[in-house]
Amino acid sequence: MSDVEMSGVAAGVRTATLDDVDALVQLELESFPGDEWTADYLRLAVDGHMPTVRVLVAAPDGAVVGHAIISVVYEIAELQRIAVAETARRRGLATALLDATVALCRDADAERLLLEVREQNQPALAFYRRAGFAEIDRRDRYYRDGSTAIVLALDLTVG
Ligand SMILES: CC(C)(COP(=O)(O)OP(=O)(O)OC[C@H]1O[C@@H](n2cnc3c(N)ncnc32)[C@H](O)[C@@H]1OP(=O)(O)O)[C@@H](O)C(=O)NCCC(=O)NCCS
Repeated sequence: MSDVEMSGVAAGVRTATLDDVDALVQLELESFPGDEWTADYLRLAVDGHMPTVRVLVAAPDGAVVGHAIISVVYEIAELQRIAVAETARRRGLATALLDATVALCRDADAERLLLEVREQNQPALAFYRRAGFAEIDRRDRYYRDGSTAIVLALDLTVG
């Protein structure tokens, strides 16, 4: 989005249900090929069998076009993934998902939101930088393909 950020309501951000699993599988395959969460894994997460994990979706016009998977363990929250379908990018949907993620983490009394991102994932790095994340570490050869991970953190106790 250019001048006006999309609100969580306009972005249709809500907690995922089992009806969303097929759409989540497609988003995972499109955005994280080779590293996607499987339908079984997603079903367990959405159905509450992973007690620390929450799954959010963005469905601005009813159809699910984005998702975020978050785990919160005491004061540390981790953004496991965030993705928006290619056709729906640059409309503020990931920003709305991240805003909802931050609210959810603060409600759970988390103090820091951490994530890992591939060094070469420039769109994601630009997105996270704009959202206020700071680099705190680098992990060489972290990914199976030998890529370096950049560890980013957002302080949830300020702002
Ligand atoms: C990263 C990603 C989630 C961003 O989703 P999005 O809905 O397009 O993001 P937003 O529209 O909320 O973007 C907000 C801001 O982030 C920055 N940004 C987002 N995508 C960008 C890109 N491709 N290049 C540069 N800056 C970008 C811009 O500042 C943008 O604001 P603007 O559009 O007003 O310039 C999306 O590109 C994606 O799904 N990528 C594949 C999955 C992935 O890599 N996830 C992260 C894994 S760690």
